[in-house]
Amino acid sequence: MAKRVAIVGAGATGLASIKCCLEEGLKPTCFERSDDLGGLWRFTTKVCSVRKRPDFTATGQWEVVTLCEGKQESAIFDAVMVCTGFFTNPNLPLDSFPGINNFKGQYFHSREYKHPDIFRDKSVLVIGMGNSGTDIAVEASHLAKKVFLSTTGGAWVISRVFDSGYPWDMVFMTRFQNTFRNSLPTPIVNWLIAKRMNSWFNHANYGLIPEDRVQLREPVLNDELPGRIITGKVLIKPRVKEVKENSVVFSNTPKEEPIDIIVFATGYTFAFPFLDETVVKVEDGQASLYKYIFPAHLPKPTLAVIGLIKPLGSLLPTGDTQARWAVRVLKGVIKLPPSSTMIEEVNERKKNKPSGFGLYYCKALETDYITYIDELLTAINAKPNLFSLLLTDPRLALAIFFGPCTPYQFRLTGPGKWEGARNAIMTQWDRTFKATKTRIVQESPSLFASLLKVFSFLALLVAIFLIFL
Ligand SMILES: Cc1cc2nc3c(=O)[nH]c(=O)nc-3n(C[C@H](O)[C@H](O)[C@H](O)COP(=O)(O)OP(=O)(O)OC[C@H]3O[C@@H](n4cnc5c(N)ncnc54)[C@H](O)[C@@H]3O)c2cc1C
Ligand SMILES: NC(=O)c1ccc[n+]([C@@H]2O[C@H](COP(=O)([O-])OP(=O)(O)OC[C@H]3O[C@@H](n4cnc5c(N)ncnc54)[C@H](OP(=O)(O)O)[C@@H]3O)[C@@H](O)[C@H]2O)c1
Repeated sequence: MAKRVAIVGAGATGLASIKCCLEEGLKPTCFERSDDLGGLWRFTTKVCSVRKRPDFTATGQWEVVTLCEGKQESAIFDAVMVCTGFFTNPNLPLDSFPGINNFKGQYFHSREYKHPDIFRDKSVLVIGMGNSGTDIAVEASHLAKKVFLSTTGGAWVISRVFDSGYPWDMVFMTRFQNTFRNSLPTPIVNWLIAKRMNSWFNHANYGLIPEDRVQLREPVLNDELPGRIITGKVLIKPRVKEVKENSVVFSNTPKEEPIDIIVFATGYTFAFPFLDETVVKVEDGQASLYKYIFPAHLPKPTLAVIGLIKPLGSLLPTGDTQARWAVRVLKGVIKLPPSSTMIEEVNERKKNKPSGFGLYYCKALETDYITYIDELLTAINAKPNLFSLLLTDPRLALAIFFGPCTPYQFRLTGPGKWEGARNAIMTQWDRTFKATKTRIVQESPSLFASLLKVFSFLALLVAIFLIFL
């Protein structure tokens, strides 16, 4: 009989998990507490608790207790996939803002923000220069009287429109770039990154330069921010020293700035209230999960957490790949190492020791996107084999190595293989620019460019020949 899998949450990772279960012949039931998306579907069904069955050491089974329209139900599952996301509990650090209780204006967390109309003709302070804070400050600046964006650490700001107008992630996130970065010492990589980021605009001149340039913090993606700063619509400020009744004092100056609205874009915390701490314990913003997925200490690997990771890349293909790997484990096709080995690996990762090469990811859960995904793909035989492709399909091999690391690459082989993957890779640039080339123009071919292409191809052949010599 097919194993029954409970999937908690029907966000992006929950949906991917349902698909992966179905592909592997498992029987998923998805519980979603909201009334929006759902799986095999139990809308508005909140999972209240997931507990090990008394015979867990033998069966690995779980008892899942749910609440729907005031009615509690319980069911037994062979496995559980926790897909509840980690941007759910707003982090509102009011204690760090002396005087906030006396503030007579309005304040709220970025999660509650819906529309910029509330900022019309107001003086607005946005606290936190993550992606939420920056997006909100920029939107507010079109209507507000004045907008301040307070940052404690600064950040690199990247334009989505990257080199020669290509989308930034399609240029930055390639296997070639990743291999190149990871083979250089960290200080050199950081220097190159700083040079690259400052080539758009000098971050120091805009008060944005990250204070810590050794450890990489998530960059901010925003095309408009520098334009809003240079036109005086957004004013970058350091940390808030004190909040008064109708104003705020920043740490670099005694001057009070009148403020009507404060937006705390101070991020999120996460927890698994339906799980016992003996199953998954959250400490210092992370949990002891093998490969960021399986609790390392459980005698049976029948509970997987999907999406609890911060790759420098999209979370969606990362969650999808995690689900593909995890269902192979749940099905018993992949065997995990002994608990002691997994615990050792998890503890080693938690120490967060810099390797000395490539980017240095500083915060809990942060990881290198391609390296991590490749690790999982290797375990399910889905990592594209570039050397054999070079012999059998060199055009595809080159597109995979030098082109964007799009998730089609992960579907060329292995479980969940997709026949359309090759064509999708070879046509990805055409499809990307179909959206922008809405006025068709004739480009005259340049003789120099054609010669350069021929020369590059010959150089590549020589390089390949030398490698195999
Ligand atoms: C403002 C914002 C913008 C973002 N933009 C991007 C982006 O551009 N690209 C990107 O890759 N990522 C982005 N992210 C990150 C984004 O959250 C994830 O990529 C994606 O939503 C993760 O999907 P998930 O399924 O893990 O979590 P979620 O989408 O949060 O889904 C979790 C689901 O679990 C349900 N749930 C929780 N607890 C229970 C329970 N006890 N019982 C039943 N159901 C439960 C929730 O209702 C929810 O539907 C953004 C995040 C934020 C906050
Ligand atoms: N357009 C998009 O793609 C988009 C939009 C929104 C969110 N997201 C994603 O959603 C996730 C959450 O983003 P987020 O911006 O909400 O949160 P975040 O990335 O965690 O940023 C929160 C910021 O708040 C500040 N902060 C935190 N604690 C503070 C404290 N005690 N005092 C003062 N400042 C404090 C810090 O900024 P400083 O260091 O600057 O002080 C911190 O970087 C991210 O992964 C993000 O990429 C994406």
